[in-house]
Amino acid sequence: MRILVVGKGGRAHAMVWKLASSKKVLKVYVAPGNAGCALEKKVQNISIEIDEIEKLVSFAKEKKIDFALAGPAVALIKGLVDRFTQEGIRCFGTSQKASQLEASKSYAKAFLKRYKIPTSEYEVFSDIETALSYLDKKEAPIVVKADGLASGKGVIVAQSIREAKKAVIDMLNGNCFGDAGSRVVIEEYIEGEECSFIVMSDGNNILPMVPCQDHKRKGEGDTGVNTGGMGAYSPVKLVTPELSERIVKEIVQPTIDAMREKELIPYKGFLYTGIMIDNEGNLKVLEYNCRFGDPEAQPVMMRLQSDFVEHIVAALEGRLDKEVAKWDERAALCVVAAPREYPEKFQAGAVIRGLDTIDDPNVKVFHSGTFLNDEGEIVTTVGRTLSVTALGDSIQDAQNRAYGSIKKIDFEGIYYRKDIGYRALGV
Ligand code: GLY
Repeated sequence: MRILVVGKGGRAHAMVWKLASSKKVLKVYVAPGNAGCALEKKVQNISIEIDEIEKLVSFAKEKKIDFALAGPAVALIKGLVDRFTQEGIRCFGTSQKASQLEASKSYAKAFLKRYKIPTSEYEVFSDIETALSYLDKKEAPIVVKADGLASGKGVIVAQSIREAKKAVIDMLNGNCFGDAGSRVVIEEYIEGEECSFIVMSDGNNILPMVPCQDHKRKGEGDTGVNTGGMGAYSPVKLVTPELSERIVKEIVQPTIDAMREKELIPYKGFLYTGIMIDNEGNLKVLEYNCRFGDPEAQPVMMRLQSDFVEHIVAALEGRLDKEVAKWDERAALCVVAAPREYPEKFQAGAVIRGLDTIDDPNVKVFHSGTFLNDEGEIVTTVGRTLSVTALGDSIQDAQNRAYGSIKKIDFEGIYYRKDIGYRALGV
């Protein structure tokens, strides 16, 4: 088989690595990929950007690919899957309409309310004065979200009403997130443990991935600004097989069924549900994403033992009810390295050293934002840089291995959190 993967981050590298390991696969093309993808056997980067949809369609036709897999939300929201489908090329991912669950937080909240899927109380605003008067009647902490796509950074957990007001003004004035912030959702803050619950869906049936926990904040102890994710691990102790069943029954399957039967938008692709679990075990949906998580894909792909290609083909053919995924019993933990200024603006082009010194067979370094310069050196690009991911007999063991390896890597201004997995270790 020949497969085309659209993406360039750590999630794309992890998926490409897993797909290329299948005996069924001759070649994986990645558009545009990164330096890490280029180093994988059977993998070739192609210089087409993720949103150059017509070029991707032409390439897929020319190479007669068997199917495409879309990584980032941007491509899905732009209609990548719709265009491939029109051309008769199989593409696993959500249609433009189905991607609304991620593209618009207000659509997602209204959907959740309409179908009585548990979520926090909320209001939507596009007018600054109305939003500020609403905040005058509320108490902190309170959550302010940009309605549109903001690469995971458009969520502000405000610790004071003053901070919430500033976020509202910044977003609605268009000072941050551009159009994505032209509408805001203000919602109740919920205490608890967060879980990333990701499934594959064929429109009717689902195949759940192992639950995962992500660290979205930049600073240790889950402090500081929201990022795309500074690390992730799996399993999540709190999410027992019984709780996973409840998540499917109370949240995931009702979502897939309502999309198909009520909204008349079959949901095919990855569905990522961010769920808050409170002390009493109550579940609430924090967000939907129409794609795999990043960095969640990195530990999840490390634990996947069955053939990812077979699962995707089964999803494309509407046979997920018969699919069973096999998982490594071991834990996996991923630590993300990024430039110190991330997620603000920063210089790309720093040379990455030490990658060839990683010798632990249980560690895989997925590249998140790298490219090969003219001198053949691997250098940083924008965003997150590397996702150092380890398998271990326990979260502690996986954590030791990931940190044992990441400390051998260096680039100017390297930053990573030192406490990924701390909630699982009770420290
Ligand atoms: N790690 C969070 C996300 O992928 O949105």
